[in-house]
Amino acid sequence: MIHSTFQLPTQFGDFGGAYAPETLMASLLELEAAWIESRADASFQAELQDLLTNYAGRATPLYHARRLSEELGLELWLKREDLLHTGAHKLNNSLGQALLAKRMGKTRILAETGAGQHGVATATACALLDLECIIYMGAVDAARQRPNLLRMELLGARVEVVEHGQQTLKDAINEALRAWVGDPQAHYLLGSALGPHPFPSIVAEYQEVIGKEARAQWQAARSGQPDAIIACVGGGSNAIGIFRGFVDLQDVQLIGVEAGGEGIASGKHAARFGGGRPGILHGCESYLLQDEHGQVLPTSSISAGLDYPAVGPEHAQLHCLQRANYVSCTDSEALAGFERLARTEGILPALESSHALGWLIAKCESLAGKRVILNLSGRGDKDLDTVKQLREAQA
Ligand SMILES: Cc1ncc(COP(=O)(O)O)c(C=O)c1O
Repeated sequence: MIHSTFQLPTQFGDFGGAYAPETLMASLLELEAAWIESRADASFQAELQDLLTNYAGRATPLYHARRLSEELGLELWLKREDLLHTGAHKLNNSLGQALLAKRMGKTRILAETGAGQHGVATATACALLDLECIIYMGAVDAARQRPNLLRMELLGARVEVVEHGQQTLKDAINEALRAWVGDPQAHYLLGSALGPHPFPSIVAEYQEVIGKEARAQWQAARSGQPDAIIACVGGGSNAIGIFRGFVDLQDVQLIGVEAGGEGIASGKHAARFGGGRPGILHGCESYLLQDEHGQVLPTSSISAGLDYPAVGPEHAQLHCLQRANYVSCTDSEALAGFERLARTEGILPALESSHALGWLIAKCESLAGKRVILNLSGRGDKDLDTVKQLREAQA
């Protein structure tokens, strides 16, 4: 049965909501109802668990990065989402929502992508579950994440390159939402913990597995609690996934790292908590980069996955409650993070994850001697061209 109003709270404190056009409300209500039912359905949960374990490769390791720890003067553990099938945390959510779409009788999936990891994860889930897949991607992102564009096509998805606006993630979400309004029979498989209710809650719940696993793995490997959890924040799905595993432990610091681009003072960044204020974009209220007239500002980051002017509403709530601390890392600090992890640990991180590393390396004195878990949200294969260009520009 589809209710005429939402059944669950749509807000995270003052943030969130469902600021959607009338034409989308039926789809959002249908989605919420199906999701609530699926949570109580043991066979659905067992099927998802089986796919996460036997197809995607969960649990991902919690790895003690000994060489880098020694160099930084702290104890660093990496949650290895880069080792998940398709190379990033995005598959946790794509598998969950694709199974949910199947259960709802949908045969077609629409999705947006920035770095291409959500697009690849969604194309993968659609191939596996025999669903038609259409992915919207900004032209700038399609150029800088070319290997992922090819991957999506090889997996059978149709990629629609968005040639207007800033041609990045915001424009891809605009286009996917527009397509969903005209095609309510499709499911819109949103890739981060943002958008109108129920998406922020659904995506966070499918990503919670990261935090739950990390906490259990920590307890098995170490005594006591970690001192800090660090994750990069684009829309916020990998960060909320790991934060939720530790948020009840008040002594554990939660640190979210946004894209500082060329520095906050330059105005060329994507640090919503560094330079934004509350506003509404893509159906929810949260921190947003906007001018004095409320117009959304352009963003800048070397990392396509962090290059977005708003942030998920649960992060806005954690920020206002001062439960999590949001900081930023510049492009050049992120590149330093990428290179340092490669050379000390033999791991090429995604440029998104490199922001968390870059911030930690730059600010490691503030965490001297502490026990830190950093969510390594993805692997860097997709970024090799960008890294090469950055290194050449710096030489
Ligand atoms: C590897 C990786 N990490 C992080 C992100 C940022 O997204 P989110 O904040 O939703 O985790 C992306 C987005 O594409 C990504 O590909």
